[in-house]
Amino acid sequence: MKDNYILAFETSCDETSVAILKNGTELLSNIIASQINSHKRFGGVVPEIASRHHVEQITVCIEAALEEAKISASELTAVAVTQGPGLNGALLVGIMAAKTFAWANHLPLIPVNHMAGHLMAARLVDEIEYPAMALLVSGGHSELVYVEREGNYKKVGETRDDAAGEAYDKVGRVMGLTYPSGKVIDELAHKGQDTYHFPRAMMTTNEVEFSFSGLKSAFINLVHSENQKGNDVVKDDLENLAASFQAAVIDVLVAKTKLAIEKYPVKTLIIGGGVSANQGLRDRLNDEIIEQKLIVPPLRLCGDNAGMIAAAAYVEWEKGSRGSLALNAKPSLVF
Ligand code: KG4
Ligand code: ZN
Repeated sequence: MKDNYILAFETSCDETSVAILKNGTELLSNIIASQINSHKRFGGVVPEIASRHHVEQITVCIEAALEEAKISASELTAVAVTQGPGLNGALLVGIMAAKTFAWANHLPLIPVNHMAGHLMAARLVDEIEYPAMALLVSGGHSELVYVEREGNYKKVGETRDDAAGEAYDKVGRVMGLTYPSGKVIDELAHKGQDTYHFPRAMMTTNEVEFSFSGLKSAFINLVHSENQKGNDVVKDDLENLAASFQAAVIDVLVAKTKLAIEKYPVKTLIIGGGVSANQGLRDRLNDEIIEQKLIVPPLRLCGDNAGMIAAAAYVEWEKGSRGSLALNAKPSLVF
């Protein structure tokens, strides 16, 4: 059978990425140009700056991806691109590049849901046994997705307010850390203890739902009230603050994941998205997920990258889904 080569684009937020995947599982290249240094000083991603960087980086990334994979455009099977969710202007850069590349090289186009990408990164790591459940936690999303069979996604729960990554980044700002702060808080947390016992939202409900805005407020209120008493807890007790915040996030994520797999029994549990890089979360799931196969992607596949988009695109390709040259961005795309 002829080999399948998918060239994929990811530009939904602040990484410009182009990857080439062979036969659905073999990642030949996964070029990622991060813009994070340009956004740091603004404390978050600035959409206009993101789009401009994507424009500057996209052709460089295409060339690097083809070169590293030692593949020419004529050998490719299809072109895939993130259609959403994400920033409109940022998505459009990848979509325009993908459409142009597909048109110029007479290749079919495959639109991909960014969250399906985070989920299908697992395909690049191990065989997913279905049905599967995925805990997807990133800067913009926190959701549990049931995958009855390949390519069939059903969201069974999500956050009511902030995403887990968003909570990390907002709390990080109060802690005086630079954006994004998830990784640093994770590192600090390992040196501290849960001494503050922040609230764990929705733990008593039987609903597969998250809420992180109450935790964020509790954290900010505690820092302010301690400051008023003359205690600079951020300066003097940063590690315990980080450990207490992280313990509250992980308790909720783990409890709701367990509830989801109780309600929807599965053979595999997958984690994905930037927050799935969290070592505390990985350790807890490794300890507590006994009956299911657990797929934890390596760090390079947790954050945004085109390799995961190619993996999800392969599944779409097999299903026969194709996009046209009229393809547009869908910034609020959901499962
Ligand atoms: O998936 P991602 O790269 O981009 C989005 O699609 O949002 O996720 C980025 C998020 C940020 O909020 C960042 O703070 C968080 O992932 N993050 C972490 C860790 N590494 C990155 N959060 C907790 N612990 C980490 N180790
Ligand atoms: Zn993402």
